[in-house]
Parts: sequence; structure tokens; C-alpha cells
Amino acid sequence: MQSTVLFVLDGQLVRLGFSPGGYPHVTTTLLQYLRSLPGHRGVKEGCAEGDCGACTVVLAEPDGDGGLRYRAVDSCLFFLPMIHGKQVITVENLRDPSGNLHGVQQAMVDEFGSQCGFCTPGVVMSLFALHKTLSAPKREQVVDAIAGNLCRCTGYRSIIDAGLGAVGSGAGDQFHADAGRIHDLLLSIPRDGLMIETGGRRYSRPSTIEEALDARRREPDAVVLCGATDTALRVTKNHEEIPSIIDLSGIAALRAQRRTDAAFFFGAAVTIQEVMDTAEKGIPSLAGMLAVFGSRQIRNIATIGGNVGTASPIGDTLPVLVALGAEIELTGSHGVRRLPVEEMLTGYRRTACRSDELITGVSIPRIPSDITVRAYKVSRRADLDISTVSAAFRVRVDGDGTVDGAILAFGGMAEKVRRARSTEEFLQGRPWTRETVDKAMAGLSDEFRPLCDVRGSASFRAAVARNLLLKFWAETAGANGQRAVASAEGVHG
Ligand SMILES: Cc1cc2nc3c(=O)[nH]c(=O)nc-3n(C[C@H](O)[C@H](O)[C@H](O)COP(=O)(O)OP(=O)(O)OC[C@H]3O[C@@H](n4cnc5c(N)ncnc54)[C@H](O)[C@@H]3O)c2cc1C
Ligand code: FES
Ligand code: FES
Repeated sequence: MQSTVLFVLDGQLVRLGFSPGGYPHVTTTLLQYLRSLPGHRGVKEGCAEGDCGACTVVLAEPDGDGGLRYRAVDSCLFFLPMIHGKQVITVENLRDPSGNLHGVQQAMVDEFGSQCGFCTPGVVMSLFALHKTLSAPKREQVVDAIAGNLCRCTGYRSIIDAGLGAVGSGAGDQFHADAGRIHDLLLSIPRDGLMIETGGRRYSRPSTIEEALDARRREPDAVVLCGATDTALRVTKNHEEIPSIIDLSGIAALRAQRRTDAAFFFGAAVTIQEVMDTAEKGIPSLAGMLAVFGSRQIRNIATIGGNVGTASPIGDTLPVLVALGAEIELTGSHGVRRLPVEEMLTGYRRTACRSDELITGVSIPRIPSDITVRAYKVSRRADLDISTVSAAFRVRVDGDGTVDGAILAFGGMAEKVRRARSTEEFLQGRPWTRETVDKAMAGLSDEFRPLCDVRGSASFRAAVARNLLLKFWAETAGANGQRAVASAEGVHG
């Protein structure tokens, strides 16, 4: 175990030590650290909670194929030890050594995309990450890339034009020319675990599952984190001083994905964006839900294990995982056990994960082609918003038009994501018709007592839940209202 965080900034290796009572602390965010340096004040703090994108920076890491993978992240949600082994790129780094603007910066100038100085650096970094990944992005890809960058003044048209106009700007830039050197520099950083103790606070970043379980045994009360998009808010918004943290983001084994004929397996630290990329090729209901999960900067850090770990009643993966019959893999000192998602969720933000265990993966079975699964998210705006109500439905309709197995899973309707069991039983063996669905909708109202809050009243939530079921029926039943369409899975954000 080492106690120095090593990363690349301004093209050079930086060794960052932590001392008791000194600065930075282990929960200092990357944003705070960068703004404490003389040459990186372009990165701005707007909200400190992942909502505005003013703090966007780009991280580069070896991609496993000899190149580098670039992703935009919100630096306000990144605890400093999480940058170990990565290159940090800020807006100040984009000009080339001769002082010329980077292609995305020039496109912003040409298209009059530069508006206020607060948001523009973050916008530029999001577009930079996009152009390091795609040479000629389509409009919807540009829009997706900047969905996490809020502008409250003149709007997005000129920014989108800049994103479209910067074609090829990522391919021949100075980062491309220097990629080999940076790649080797990053690989020279030891991947051993980190253990940092400063002023009574302990930050452990193990490199293996075994080390993480050891840390868990030694400190059962330590806060476990993976992407920290949920946990970081405890520090940045609630000003909590977390005495001990076990950070799983450095465990390569937890970032693995596997596919078999029977199932998809995602390690707990696979990011939501990586899950979405895979799901687009085989789990469309999940891919559709993840397309409206946070923003690109959030999806690039947030993990599937973390989403399950929050056990939030509005966790967006959870209703879909329930409908897909997914299982959560838990690893502890006694070995490995697997639980259906519903058994994993024991109450409001409570899971069945024991204090000597970790969530190590999520297994999602492939769905037979005669079963239809669709997912829906209703929120106050399409992008970067949390659910008011979410739902995922699964139905198999027999050749004679009757329901043979239904799962109706809802988020935002109770203290945890829950199935409407009585309505599911009601549907069993009944014809999949408008009449049946009308009766099911009436019964659904008795199954939940949703809360009333700023996002929606109880009666609004109940009406949304009923109408989502109707929508599902309308989308999946044939013209005569009797037979389900034969599509295996459907998507709906
Ligand atoms: C701006 C913003 C937008 C968001 N939008 C959405 C959204 O649209 N939909 C949505 O569902 N969520 C959203 N979230 C919430 C959050 O991003 C997700 O819940 C995310 O998946 C959490 O993953 P993480 O790895 O960052 O979690 P972390 O913060 O690392 O952990 C979350 C919880 O899970 C526990 N945990 C994490 N990993 C493990 C593990 N391997 N074993 C045991 N326990 C573990 C932690 O102890 C903690 O309690 C948003 C958050 C922000 C800040
Ligand atoms: S400061 Fe708003 S997203 Fe980070
Ligand atoms: S660019 Fe800052 S509010 Fe529009």
C-alpha cells in the first residue's frame, strides 16, 4: 500500500502527498484542488453537486489497446485519491504549444458559441472529450455530450453548431501527438492499493477484492464508495467529515464485463455509460433507461454497483433490473452469494449487503424472444433530472392472447423500488386487452401510497403509474388489442 497519489497534469507526473492538518485532505475534490493551483482556474464551481457542468474536466486513461480513453467528468464529485493513475486535462491545457486554439475552441469562436465565462470552459471540455472519441459526431451525439452543461442565458444552438463544426479536431491535436508518452507515463504508475491517513481520517483504495474485504473486516463502519456520485454530496453539500472511506474504484476485477448465451455480467464498478454502451447491443429496455440517466459526466463516473448500493426508491436501474430478473452478486469473507434485486432492496436506502460484504456484480439474464420488457422514466425534464415515477414492465402473452407471467416494477411510488404483486396476480391468465388493463389500473391505485413532494403529489404519482401501464399495453398490444407484438424487448425513456 502506498500513500502518495500519482497522476498526470500539464503533461507531467505529479506526486501528491497528504499530511495531517495540511492541504489537501482526502476528501478534497479535484475541483477544489485544481482551483487552488495558479494555472487551472478555468474550471469553475457552479453547483458542487454534478448538476451544472461548470467544473467539467477530461480524464484520460490507458484503454487496454495501447491508446488512451478520454471521458468528461464533473470534477466537483471526484475525491482526489480517485485520480490516481489518470491524466487530468483542463481547459488551460487545450491550446497547442504554439498558442493556437484547439479545434473545438476555434469552432466555439467561429460559431459564436462562447457565451458567459462561467459555463464556456465546461462546455469546451465536454466537446473536447466528444471529439477525442468521435471524429464526426452526429447532432444527437453533440446534444448528449453537452446535456450536463447548463446554460441559462442565450441557449445551445451555437454550441451545437460548434460541436458539429469541429469535425476531425480531436484526431490530429497535440494530445494525439503526445499520447504514446502519456500512455507510458500512466502505465509507469504503480497500481498498488492506496492507504492514506490524515488528521484522523482514513482513505483506503484497495486494488483487489481481497484487500477490500480485509479493509471491510477491519472497519465495518467505513463508508464504501465506487463512483462517489452519491457519496461525494455528503461532503460537498452536507459538509460531513467522513472518518473512513473504502474506495473500490481502483479494483480492476470490478470493472470487468462478461457475456454468455445465458446472461450479461457487469462488475460492480462498471460505469453507467459502459453498461449503456453494452446494453445498446442486447438489453434495449436498460439502454433506454440509461439514456436519460444523469448526464454524460455523471454516467462516466457513476457505477451500476453504486446505483444498487444506494437502494434509492428512484434509482433508475432498479425497476429495470427487477423486470429483467437480474441478480446481485455479493462477495464476503464466507464466499459469494447471489440475490434477486428485490431481495437486495430491504427498505428506504437499505440493502441486504452485510457489513463484511461488498456488491461485486450484477447478472442480467437474456430475455426469451416471446417476452416483452419496457422501461419508462417520468421526470420534470428529459435530461439530467431524477425520476418522479419510473416503471419497468415485463409480460409474456400466450398464443391465445392471455397473460402468462407479468412483472410490474415501480420506482418513486414507495420507500423502495417495488413490484405491484396483486396487480401482477390479477393479470395472470387474463386476456391482454384494454378491458383487463383498465381493471388492472384501478387495482394498481390500491397497491401504493406514494409520497407527496416537490416533484409530484401523491395523486399525480398514482395517475402516472396507472397511465404508464396503459401506455405499455398500448405499445405492446396488436391492433385488435388481443395479442402482444412479437418484439422481444422495447425501450422507452
Ligand atoms: C447530478 C446527478 C445526477 C444523477 N442522476 C441520476 C439518475 O438520473 N438516475 C439515478 O438512478 N441516479 C442518479 N444519480 C445518483 C447516482 O449518480 C447514482 O445512484 C449512481 O449510480 C451511484 O453510483 P456511484 O458509484 O457513484 O455510487 P457511490 O456514491 O460510490 O455509492 C453509492 C452508495 O452505494 C454504496 N456502494 C457503492 N458501491 C458499493 C459496493 N460495490 N458494495 C457495497 N456498497 C456499495 C455506497 O456505500 C453508497 O451508499 C445522480 C447523481 C447526481 C450527482
Ligand atoms: S460544479 Fe456544477 S457540476 Fe460540478
Ligand atoms: S453560457 Fe453561462 S449561462 Fe449561458
